[in-house]
Amino acid sequence: MNLADSEVVVSILQKEGYERVEEIEQADFVMINTCAIRDNAEQRIRKRVRELRALQGRHPQLRIGILGCMAERLQSQLMAEEDNVSFVVGPDAYRRMPEILKQVRQGSRTADTELSTEETYADIEPVRLHSNGISAFISIMRGCQNYCAYCVVPYTRGRERSRDPETIVHEARTLFERGYKEVTLLGQNVNSYRYKNTDGSTTSFPQLMEQVALISPLLRVRFATSHPKDLSDELLQVMARHDNICKCIHLPVQSGSNRMLKLMNRHYTAEWYLDRVAAIRHYLPECSITTDVIAGFCTETEEDHQATLEMFRTVRYDYAYMFKFSMRPDTFAHKHMVDDIDEREKTRRLEEIIALQGQIALENNQKEIGRTYEILVEGTSHRSDKQLFGRNSQNKVIVFDREEVKPGEYVRVEVTDCTAATLKGRLVK
Ligand code: 5AD
Ligand code: SF4
Repeated sequence: MNLADSEVVVSILQKEGYERVEEIEQADFVMINTCAIRDNAEQRIRKRVRELRALQGRHPQLRIGILGCMAERLQSQLMAEEDNVSFVVGPDAYRRMPEILKQVRQGSRTADTELSTEETYADIEPVRLHSNGISAFISIMRGCQNYCAYCVVPYTRGRERSRDPETIVHEARTLFERGYKEVTLLGQNVNSYRYKNTDGSTTSFPQLMEQVALISPLLRVRFATSHPKDLSDELLQVMARHDNICKCIHLPVQSGSNRMLKLMNRHYTAEWYLDRVAAIRHYLPECSITTDVIAGFCTETEEDHQATLEMFRTVRYDYAYMFKFSMRPDTFAHKHMVDDIDEREKTRRLEEIIALQGQIALENNQKEIGRTYEILVEGTSHRSDKQLFGRNSQNKVIVFDREEVKPGEYVRVEVTDCTAATLKGRLVK
């Protein structure tokens, strides 16, 4: 999401005549787009800001700005604490960046962290950064109002709002015409995407997905993230109808314990979650499922933790993002609960989840040996330039010997070997 936002910021500034430079030494402005989701994300930014002092010593004209969720959370406090920061801009204020940079050039320090109920940057064509020219992100909605008890996002990204589907389909089509082969539709909770069109009709997420999928069978469509409480059968049916909608669902579970899920304000139970997993397996037997999980949320007992491990054993995720709970200011947990699981215990629980998931991922991958997949080739393998890598519909990376193949092509590859993280394969002619 932050990468997609940075692409919007670059687009806004380029229209004003600013240029993006490759070398930080050449920059007049350095902007850091930040995350506030866990404390360690913020600490890394603090460190980066302090490291930039040396560069500012050599280039006194250099101005530093903090963008994104940490900017929104701390506002002008951030400038008070980091005296080398000149501007702080929240995620809904990027259209005002040209004005802000003008003020900064005139010597002011400025913060703009106003949130909006409408801003979706729908009309702004993002400038693709670090793109391989093959896959791109498209932001389809902004904000979140689920208020999970641990989460700062509703406070930093504001109310949920959906972007005009016409602009989304147009953006996807333009990308395809320029040679892109894959788009990922992005939102905090894509299943609650809903747009009221000017003719009075509404567009739901399954309808939007279908419109994007119909652009071309050669354009792959992915999406993230789905909240389990809103994952509908209708969406799964649309996915089943279109081969180019990738068979991979990211379904953050957060915990396997009903007591924790209730305290977390997730609005589902473990049984509900498993029912949604069963629905995925029913409509999309070949679909991969990935998740997010938090270890050591307030009052979590050993029994709750065991319920999470049990959930992992039952679902057998293909991939998981696994975190220790980090208490965030402003959240419900911060106001009403105590961060009472000590750091060592959180670490132990997290390590247990990581070890279990590593084992499951390896076993899942071993079952892939002998299967053949169509993959979209993305580039040269990091290990060897004689090899390429691509992904299958399930989002698994497969590495293979390059032969005559080029990035951006679809090829068929038979899986011959694996680790927990990667599949190895050979081209099938
Ligand atoms: N502590 C740890 N992990 C968190 N996440 C969100 N808030 C916190 C927090 N306070 C995780 C959730 C979410 C993912 C994006 O980050 O698992 O799904
Ligand atoms: Fe945070 Fe919950 Fe919204 Fe996800 S759904 S962004 S975890 S509040």
